[in-house]
Amino acid sequence: MLCFSLQRRSLHSSLCLMKKMKSKTPAEQRWMQRQLKDPYVKASHALNFRCRSAFKLLEIDDKFRLLQPGGSVVDCGAAPGAWSQVAVQRVNSAGTGEGDPAAPHGTVVGIDLMNIPPLDGAHFLCSHDVTDPVTHAKLLELLPNRQAHVILSDMAPNASGFREMDHVKLITMCFSLIDLAEKILQPGGSLVCKYWDGISARELQEKLSNVFNTVQIIKPNASRKDSSERYFLARMYRKPVK
Ligand SMILES: C[S@@+](CC[C@H](N)C(=O)[O-])C[C@H]1O[C@@H](n2cnc3c(N)ncnc32)[C@H](O)[C@@H]1O
Repeated sequence: MLCFSLQRRSLHSSLCLMKKMKSKTPAEQRWMQRQLKDPYVKASHALNFRCRSAFKLLEIDDKFRLLQPGGSVVDCGAAPGAWSQVAVQRVNSAGTGEGDPAAPHGTVVGIDLMNIPPLDGAHFLCSHDVTDPVTHAKLLELLPNRQAHVILSDMAPNASGFREMDHVKLITMCFSLIDLAEKILQPGGSLVCKYWDGISARELQEKLSNVFNTVQIIKPNASRKDSSERYFLARMYRKPVK
């Protein structure tokens, strides 16, 4: 029954998309056709994820087990909220227990420049800039013991189409996460951050290696093959001694 209703919903979304396609430019039509064929888009509808990016974090977390029940997570660039949905499930911040009523309750705080529809178990700082010290101060208030176990960042600027420029802009945003980590990440904590590959990626990797014991590059299967998108997974944070 559930399966039938999910299939019907997925078919309904596909039909809506096809109707909308008629009024679109060729580039928009190509994007929509790609969406229609994409198995991760279909699966995200079926599993009620807000977008396909959920599968990137699921894949990373299935492999590296960063998100534990009771953990505190900061999700940077969280809109529309798919990564936060995954984090809420994994750290049990909605208290649903996922079959274990004794599982500890975690905390999820999402930040974005955009609005994020409410999500049970997550606190969202909408219209907030991750790089702004005012946001950092609010985060400290929201986190238990003013510390996070994990910082996630799927942040991305609006792409200008100039690959090199977009790459540098995103890397600069990632540098700001190192400052954020110094304020909120607990020693031993982890950081996952998206970047677009290019000339400055090595510099970011080196800066991360200065404060984390291990830094590795990840390209999840759910990340489109033709995209320069990559993730750094940095683990075992060492707070710099001043
Ligand atoms: C690819 S989307 C994130 C998708 C999200 N991980 C999810 O699963 O729903 C990138 C987001 O980064 C946000 N963003 C870009 N720059 C930001 C900044 N300085 N502060 C906060 N959010 C930012 C954008 O508004 C956008 O919503």
